Amino acid sequence: MSGLQKEVNRRKTFAIISHPDAGKTTLTEKMLLLGGAIRTAGSVKGKKSAKFATSDWMELEKQRGISVTSSVMQFEYQGYKINILDTPGHEDFSEDTYRTLMAVDSVVMILDVAKGVEAQTKKLFKVCRDRGIPIFTFINKMDRFGKEPLELFEEIEEVLGIESSPVNYPIGMGPTFRGVYDRFNKRIEYYEDGEKAGSQSIEDYEDLQKYLEKTADQATIDQLLEDLMLLDEAGNDFDIESVKNGKQTPVFFGSAVSSFGVPTFLEHFLEMSPSPSSRESTAGKVEPTDEFFSGFVFKIQANMDPSHRDRIAFLRICSGKYEKGMSTWLERTGKPMKLAQPQQFFADSREGVDAAFAGDIVGLYDPGVYQIGDTVCGTKDVFSFGDLPQFAPEHFAKVRPKNALKHKQYLKGIKQLAQEGAIQVYRTPRYEETILGAVGQLQFDVFIYRMQAEYGVDLVMEHLSYQLARWVKEGKVPEKAMRTSTSMVVNDYLDRPVILFKNDFNLDYFKNQNEDITLSETPPKTSN
Ligand code: G4P
Repeated sequence: MSGLQKEVNRRKTFAIISHPDAGKTTLTEKMLLLGGAIRTAGSVKGKKSAKFATSDWMELEKQRGISVTSSVMQFEYQGYKINILDTPGHEDFSEDTYRTLMAVDSVVMILDVAKGVEAQTKKLFKVCRDRGIPIFTFINKMDRFGKEPLELFEEIEEVLGIESSPVNYPIGMGPTFRGVYDRFNKRIEYYEDGEKAGSQSIEDYEDLQKYLEKTADQATIDQLLEDLMLLDEAGNDFDIESVKNGKQTPVFFGSAVSSFGVPTFLEHFLEMSPSPSSRESTAGKVEPTDEFFSGFVFKIQANMDPSHRDRIAFLRICSGKYEKGMSTWLERTGKPMKLAQPQQFFADSREGVDAAFAGDIVGLYDPGVYQIGDTVCGTKDVFSFGDLPQFAPEHFAKVRPKNALKHKQYLKGIKQLAQEGAIQVYRTPRYEETILGAVGQLQFDVFIYRMQAEYGVDLVMEHLSYQLARWVKEGKVPEKAMRTSTSMVVNDYLDRPVILFKNDFNLDYFKNQNEDITLSETPPKTSN
């Protein structure tokens, strides 16, 4: 096996998706503890407010008690090199999450045992399924009362349309929770006084019953045996190919807060989940073991370190090996591009990168040259991994600085945050008014907050009643359509004309009246 192949095989790059409060932060933290990346519990949340990997706008997160940023963390566990990409869970702020999901090879979906499949999980799941990303399910909070496991499998199948195959099965729940039975390794894992108390290999169900009689009540044992036999007979057989195609999800149970079930989950997950695989590009399939270097930018984040006012472009490596000082080219411009100060992110530090491989995420210092979706190639014959999904904004507002003397900082902030993808920015052609577009309302709050915290600019914001944005792909917008009571023409930050409409009816009317104009929900690609 080549050195490159070995490195690719030991990489696992995944994201954790869940509805807020299901336990994403807790599970991440327990995994980092297992990998020795952090030493004490509480560090993940604590670190969110530390300066190394965040910005002042985490204050907003603290105030509202929601997670609004994605972060990347790397650690080693049992020979594997693991990259966890965190995803914001709030429904209003998911654009970033969707893009992050383009950069992973698998996903861990956490469900709260009492709540089952919740709204945000459903949305995120759909993105994963559309891309065929393998999904692993961790049902959390087994130390609390919740839905019956069989009911949850049914819900997963019905609501999400994916088969489930339980790798382990809970013994009781809430106050009667005694642990899990690992169906794959025929092993009981005990849970006592909120902690793992040991494990026991067993021969068969008779054996299982015998051991459980010491710790569990008869009703729990009877229910467990009945369920297990039902699963053996009528459940889905575990099929790794179906898992890899995103058609079946292996299911695990546990209690992240006490770390119960987390090591077992991680071990099975690392064994079953795919390492980086090939990706389609304009030059055909790119294999992670191809010698040439390639990757794409899926996220740009400004002001990660308030004391440096820096901006980082996050690059997911897709092939080859990154080496310090190597030559690379940016596909969009075809020009050579020095990868400046690449960094990798750990739980408590970021460090310069000497070597990185497919699956790894490196942060590049960005003086304003990258755009989300950019492909970086280690060869002059550039190719592209294609555009990342764009989301049409549905909320619009007009903004201006409260204090006209702050105009310079205002323009700088708007430009940087637009490039980062935090918000979409338009200008009216004649009056140069600034119009903001957002996928979710919360993006406005974050924007106002960041403009104040990072650029010292207070804003005056007026919400507009438009709901649709369409880029003009072909044709010229007639003068009389520039500003009507139902539509408004603006330019995006690359000066491409966009028409904002109040509703579908107005959009259809415009299309009927202007048949020579082609509109598009997403911006056309540009090369500048
Ligand atoms: P999130 O990132 O998905 O939003 O969830 P997070 O991990 O922050 O967990 C949300 C709450 O659920 C936290 O409680 C956390 O302690 C709790 N929790 C996580 N896993 C388990 C579990 O296995 N069992 C039980 N019973 N609770 C769990 P909190 O009170 O909101 O915060 P904290 O003060 O405890 O941190």
